[in-house]
Amino acid sequence: MGNRAKNSDIISEYLDTLTTVKSYLEEQIYLGFSETQINRSSQDDSKEQSESSIVVYNNMDEIRSAVESCQLCPLHKTRTNVVFGDGSEEAKLVFVGEAPGTDEDKQGKPFVGKAGQKLTQIIEAMGLSRPEVYIANVLKCRPPRNRNPKPEEIETCEPYLIAQLRLIKPRIICALGTFAAQTLLRSDKRISTLRGRFHTYQGIRLMPTYHPAYLLRNPKFKRDVWEDVQKIMAEYS
Ligand code: URA
Repeated sequence: MGNRAKNSDIISEYLDTLTTVKSYLEEQIYLGFSETQINRSSQDDSKEQSESSIVVYNNMDEIRSAVESCQLCPLHKTRTNVVFGDGSEEAKLVFVGEAPGTDEDKQGKPFVGKAGQKLTQIIEAMGLSRPEVYIANVLKCRPPRNRNPKPEEIETCEPYLIAQLRLIKPRIICALGTFAAQTLLRSDKRISTLRGRFHTYQGIRLMPTYHPAYLLRNPKFKRDVWEDVQKIMAEYS
């Protein structure tokens, strides 16, 4: 390997580390920890407020009931069902998609439409089954007309995903598509740039790859997805 290639590997690892530290700190701030520490001596009010806003979930049922009664963003008005997530709570591998579509909204389950069939094929080609893994989305409610999630919807809903991942503690996360990858990695890079190598999310190996719906529209990217899932399989076993 030439010096230039080595240097770019080092820089890319360094940037990954910075991204991991940044996302860890952001999560701590979200949970109220750093505010509590910084303000301990000077602003007791904000300490109390940040502590009271910490939501600690002890199990998946607690997260599920919070999601099922959630009215924090306008998407609750147009949903038929919330789509919480599905699979094993002891899964070593979690797939994270974008948001429920029409079929998912109707059935209350993630990835049950055409893109879901594609994802099931991918999981089975990896020698696994859906009940062995866990499948969740960044948004738990369907955006009207399947439009892209809005940043404020992602910000409001992401804590539920964070809570799910903290309980499951998977070894590997596969982020499906731009929104899942950019949200978890706090990145604005394109999925074509992010995919193909492991990143780190809260100490967990995270592989971004193309979304199965994108694959249905662009079958020429099948090979890329297959390369990505092979890397996951090598890490999994
Ligand atoms: N697309 C997603 O990102 N998630 C689903 O659950 C279904 C389609």
